[in-house]
Amino acid sequence: MNELEQEIRRRIAAAGPLPFDQFMNLALYHPELGYYSRPRDPFGVHGDYYTNSQVQPVFGRLIAQQILAWEVELGSPPEFTVVELGAGRGETAREVRALLPHIRYIEVEKRSGALPEQMVGVVFSNEFFDALPVEVVEFRPSRLMERRVGLKKDKLAWVERAPCSTRIEDYARRFIPRPAPGQVIEVNLEALDWLERIARSLVRGLVLTIDYGYTAGEIAGGRRFSDGSLMSYSRHTASEDVLRDPGERDITAHVNFTALAEHGASLGLEPSPLQTQTQFLLSIGQADNFASAMTASLEQDTFRHRQLLKTLLFDMGETYQVLIQKKNG
Ligand SMILES: C[S@@+](CC[C@H](N)C(=O)[O-])C[C@H]1O[C@@H](n2cnc3c(N)ncnc32)[C@H](O)[C@@H]1O
Repeated sequence: MNELEQEIRRRIAAAGPLPFDQFMNLALYHPELGYYSRPRDPFGVHGDYYTNSQVQPVFGRLIAQQILAWEVELGSPPEFTVVELGAGRGETAREVRALLPHIRYIEVEKRSGALPEQMVGVVFSNEFFDALPVEVVEFRPSRLMERRVGLKKDKLAWVERAPCSTRIEDYARRFIPRPAPGQVIEVNLEALDWLERIARSLVRGLVLTIDYGYTAGEIAGGRRFSDGSLMSYSRHTASEDVLRDPGERDITAHVNFTALAEHGASLGLEPSPLQTQTQFLLSIGQADNFASAMTASLEQDTFRHRQLLKTLLFDMGETYQVLIQKKNG
């Protein structure tokens, strides 16, 4: 049993089963023992998974191209800011900064960077919302039950606790229409909090969110993800056992895009229809037939760039969804 699991067991012994968001917060972000705090790099071939951000320079160039188009569309304001939430190793930030040195680019990470009080520009994220700690609930015919993490036969296990907080009840009512009996869903209250922060900070501009997820309609009646969408990743292998080896595996929950779009709209962030990553990147590339994304410098080769574009459009293109929300100041 690792050190973090011992710590989690001590907390359960002292205060009873842990709400899952607290468990996930410790597993991912405990200051020394959390998955994202350890010295080992989680990304790339020697890590646990790939994201778009490792598909450089092509991904960064396409994002830069889109940012530039939006800057022009917004009338080229004197100070144009891009904030990247959950910037990770900063690959996209490096690429965009190199191409658009005139913009202010702020990387926000768990322990560094912050949204400015006021900004005109773009709030961008890639696989940020799926990494926020969520609570887990199960729909019973007469009520909602909150699932917590406790101990069964001396192992970390799911235990049920009712009732849920009013905030969780509200989220479920708003964003999970027609749940099936026994359906399990994740409730991402932090995502709503982030949208509120973004809406306060963004005077005028766009929110660009790339992530994997679903719409409320897709999961209604338990058609998809009837047992919830939590997954853990280690060494490029996915597992549904998210309670195992806390701190040693990534944990994610699919994003409820209806929640992001509708809560955002209530805050003045007008959503465009959800698109796949393929549709989004094709719409950027069609302006110049992907010429700027594919141009190779002396030490790079075009064949590799073509392979990278194929990965973004086809291998990852249908997995990720893109939500664009606009605020008109
Ligand atoms: C799945 S990783 C994605 C990293 C990067 N965007 C990429 O595509 O490779 C999620 C990132 O979100 C960051 N993160 C999680 N919670 C955060 C918070 N509250 N504030 C800022 N960053 C956060 C994590 O530290 C992690 O780097």
